[in-house]
This record gives sequence, C-alpha cells and structure tokens, in this order.
Amino acid sequence: VEEKIILEAGVPVSRVRIEAGILDSERAPSLLLPERPGRAGVAFVTHAGAVERAATLARAVAATGLRTAVHVIEDREAGKTIASAEAAYLWLNDIGVTRGDTIVGVGGGTVTDLAGFVAATYLRGLEVVLVPTTLLGAVDAAIGGKTGVNVGGKNIVGAFRHPAVVLVDPAVLEGLPKPLLVEGAAEAVKAGLIGDPVLVALYEREGLSAPIAQVVSRAVDVKARIVSGDFTEQGERMHLNYGHTVGHAVETAAGIPHGHAVAVGMVVAGAISESHAGFAERARQDRLIESLGLPIRITGVRPGDVMRLVDLDKKRDDRGIRMVLLEAIGRPVVAPVERATVEAALTVVGID
Ligand SMILES: NC(=O)c1ccc[n+]([C@@H]2O[C@H](COP(=O)([O-])OP(=O)(O)OC[C@H]3O[C@@H](n4cnc5c(N)ncnc54)[C@H](O)[C@@H]3O)[C@@H](O)[C@H]2O)c1
Ligand SMILES: [Zn+2]
Repeated sequence: VEEKIILEAGVPVSRVRIEAGILDSERAPSLLLPERPGRAGVAFVTHAGAVERAATLARAVAATGLRTAVHVIEDREAGKTIASAEAAYLWLNDIGVTRGDTIVGVGGGTVTDLAGFVAATYLRGLEVVLVPTTLLGAVDAAIGGKTGVNVGGKNIVGAFRHPAVVLVDPAVLEGLPKPLLVEGAAEAVKAGLIGDPVLVALYEREGLSAPIAQVVSRAVDVKARIVSGDFTEQGERMHLNYGHTVGHAVETAAGIPHGHAVAVGMVVAGAISESHAGFAERARQDRLIESLGLPIRITGVRPGDVMRLVDLDKKRDDRGIRMVLLEAIGRPVVAPVERATVEAALTVVGID
C-alpha cells in the first residue's frame, strides 16, 4: 500500500492509502478502520453511483464483528444540503450511533463533504473515514479535512475535520465512465498548475488515458504538501482555490458539475493571471483544459448573477477579491483583484 501522511502542526492526522484492487481485497476493513478500542458500530454514507461499493464494504466490516448500516443520500449537489445533513443525523439517532463509532463516506466529493460535515458535527464530532469513488474525490475532495454543505452558494456552511483514513482504489477509478474522468481531470490539472508541472505534462502527453494511479499519487502529493503546511487556509492552502472564485459562482449559477465549473473558472483566472501576474502560459493551459473535453466557455448565465455569487465567496477584503493567480505553471500567488477586473474577464468564457 502506498501511504501518504497529512500533518497538522507537524503531527500526523490523516493517512491516504492507495492500492489498486484494495476495495475487493480482504484487507479492506483493516486498512479502512484505524485500530482503536471503543468502536462498536460503523455508519456508511453513500450515493447512487457507489451504493454497491458501500454495501460490499459494510458486509466486510460487519464480518469483523462490528455493527454496520448504510444510508444513501441524494445524488450530486442535492446530497450536500442542510436537509441532507439533518436526514443523516436523524438516521444516526435511529441506529443508535455513539461517540466511539465511525462514519464512513463512500462516493464522490459530495458524499465525502457531507459525511465529513455530519461527522464533524454529530455528537460534537465522530471519527470519519473516506472512500472516494470518483477521480475528483480521490485527487481532491476527500483529502485535507474541509467539509461542508451548500446554502445559497457553494460550501457556505462547513467545518474542518480530517478523515483518519482515506482509502483509494485506482482500479475502481480506472473503470469510471468517461464523463467522470473528465470532471476529475479538472481538479487534477489544477493540482498540476499550482504545484506539479510534471502532472501537467503527463496530461498533455496522455490526455484522459494518463495512468490513474500516477495522477492520484501526484495530485495527492500536491494537496498533502499544501495542507500539511497550512490547515486552515491562511496562506498556501488558498492556492487550492485556483479557478474556484469564478468556478463556484458559475457552478451555482449554471447548475453544472463542479469539475466543469472549475475548468471555466481556471480559464478566467488564467486570463487575469496573464494581465496581472505575467502568466505567459495561458494559451497552453486553455489548450490542455479543452483537449480533455472540459468546457472553456459557458452559455446561459448572466454576469450579474455570477458576480453576486462571487460576492458571497468568503475570500474578500477591502482591497478587492483575493484570487489565486499563476505567475507560471507551478508558481501560484494570491493577489487582490478588483471586482471590475473579474467582471470584465468573464467575457473570455462567453459570459457577457
Ligand atoms: N472538500 C474539499 O476539499 C473539496 C475539494 C474539491 C471538490 N469538493 C466538492 O466535491 C464535489 C464534487 O465531487 P464529484 O465530482 O465527485 O461529484 P459527485 O459527488 O456529485 O459524484 C458525481 C457522480 O458520480 C457518481 N459516482 C460516484 N462514484 C461512482 C463510481 N465509482 N462509478 C460510477 N459513478 C459514480 C455519483 O453517484 C454522482 O452521480 C463538489 O461538491 C465540490 O464542492 C470538495
Ligand atoms: Zn474544487
């Protein structure tokens, strides 16, 4: 098993374990659950695309003598709401989960965000373990301890809680339908753009056939390095938001998948990077995004609606909108950008 360790103030808080075939192996329960006295039950949270995975894992865990139950939340962003969290809390009441028990999220980023949020808040905090089953979940959402639900805008309510373990099976990800490989590629490319030029080159050379195990390993390294240095997003961690200021706004305004929205957001951020940070590789970035089948333009959203959602974002101060820009591939900076500059840049993705 390849293991990557996330640190907080130098102390290990989370283990990311990556091995092809691990979810079908009899070692899955022992790698999934940290050894710990006092655990009597394990509550699985999942969604449509991962129900069978979750049920199989729950059976394997039950065979070790623990009580298990599975709860299915609504698919996609509908599962990442206060109502969805409340339904999960009521379910946890019903099945009698207690402080020593563990919540396991099995699914895409919406499941890992919701399961993490429920675990962070139920009984003031339970242990959480994550099994990302989408590429996007594995390279980004499941890693780093940010959890949350959408309230009028993306991730407006949330909490920090590190998953004790993240178990990733690249063999499962290899078998994903192409649209999910495309969506996940957006965050993997983001990781490359902010912290790993080799990962960018890998996608340029191989496109969507880039070996998943390598993609996951490299993207998790970027995230682990950044998060381990900065858990609560005061400094470097902000770099992970590249493409997300406009991306989150477009995601909510247009109701498109997160990965698509991040792609559009990176195109806008790339243009602002060119004019404000000397980014000379904007065309190269956009070419890569487009070549992977990700959108670089969007129709049917109004600039006013997008800007209202940008205003809802938390990364603002009196000098402007704090955005992540690129000086070069692998060299992110955080800079205040005037609201009018962001609004004007929306035209590069067809929002006008
Ligand atoms: N917390 C973080 O740091 C962080 C980082 C990045 C993204 N996110 C969040 O992640 C979410 C997006 O996650 P996502 O892209 O995984 O979307 P998603 O969770 O909506 O999943 C996408 C689809 O994949 C299906 N699915 C899941 N596993 C599958 C499998 N193995 N085979 C086939 N289908 C499967 C699901 O049922 C769903 O229909 C967004 O809400 C975003 O805000 C969070
Ligand atoms: Zn994202």
